[in-house]
Amino acid sequence: MRLNTKHLLTIRDLSPDEVRGLVARAAELKAGWPAGNRPRPLTDKVVALIFEKASTRTRVSFEVGVAQLGGRTIFMTNRDSQLGRSEPLKDTARVLSRYVDALVVRTFGQEVLTELTNYGSIPVVNALTDRYHPCQVLSDLLTVSEVKGRLEGLTYCWLGDGNNMAHSWLEAAAKLGLSLRLACPEGFQPDPGILAHARAQGAEVLLTDDPRQAIAGADVVNTDVWASMGQEDDADRRRRLFGGYTLDAKLLSLAAKDAMVLHCLPAHRGEEIAEEVLEGPQAQVWRQAENRLHMQKAILEALVG
Ligand code: CP
Ligand code: NVA
Repeated sequence: MRLNTKHLLTIRDLSPDEVRGLVARAAELKAGWPAGNRPRPLTDKVVALIFEKASTRTRVSFEVGVAQLGGRTIFMTNRDSQLGRSEPLKDTARVLSRYVDALVVRTFGQEVLTELTNYGSIPVVNALTDRYHPCQVLSDLLTVSEVKGRLEGLTYCWLGDGNNMAHSWLEAAAKLGLSLRLACPEGFQPDPGILAHARAQGAEVLLTDDPRQAIAGADVVNTDVWASMGQEDDADRRRRLFGGYTLDAKLLSLAAKDAMVLHCLPAHRGEEIAEEVLEGPQAQVWRQAENRLHMQKAILEALVG
């Protein structure tokens, strides 16, 4: 499939049909690989990964995904490139556009990505910013569709920090008209603009500070770390303020009986999620992590292939 957007900076860049199309294509690529159906649309293409934050899943799934599609990757950080010595992004964007076919970028500010798209001439993919994590939520939609057989008509719950993941879930809810209930402590709620946009687009969004209200009867229960990358210094304070938000067996018992649990990982056992839930029968986190690979391939094929 082709997309109408050149870049994937946020789920907002996609149409509802494109979101569904990426989920369907990722499922197809997943089923096709073991059957020997292995398209190589990235043959002769090189993708640069620029990561200014740590990563296990996103980095490896993109690197393996590019390789499986027939291309090559170059991994860069600000420590080993001139980015760390203040070479301007706008210069980096113009130079890299002359060598490689796409940029996959993990960074702090969303404006870094905008700057790269303004000055570069190649597709830019958001591999996580402080504001959004679109590739993760797209692949989480694949995981939900595999487990539940559908995306619509379910109740989604978000517990904890109103962070980049919560924002991308709000955007997915806006695209697909999903019902999403978020429980976030006062002061850790999602960006009001993103929330208002999701509601205006037809998402049914409930925002509360009561985890029990948000999880009651939910089909898909999502949580994430309380202190994201870059917020390590605030972790102790957050641990105190997020008391009561731990997804443990007692809290999960309020969800639908067959509710599935998602966590994008890495998880902090005993903080946002209890060991018994992460290792329990309702957790789909390993499938979720695997699906990153299949979704990255669908995204790259559509933008770069
Ligand atoms: N879920 C996720 O993005 O994991 P990494 O930080 O390991 O890439
Ligand atoms: N919200 C987390 C997600 C990690 C994949 C972070 O930004 O650190």
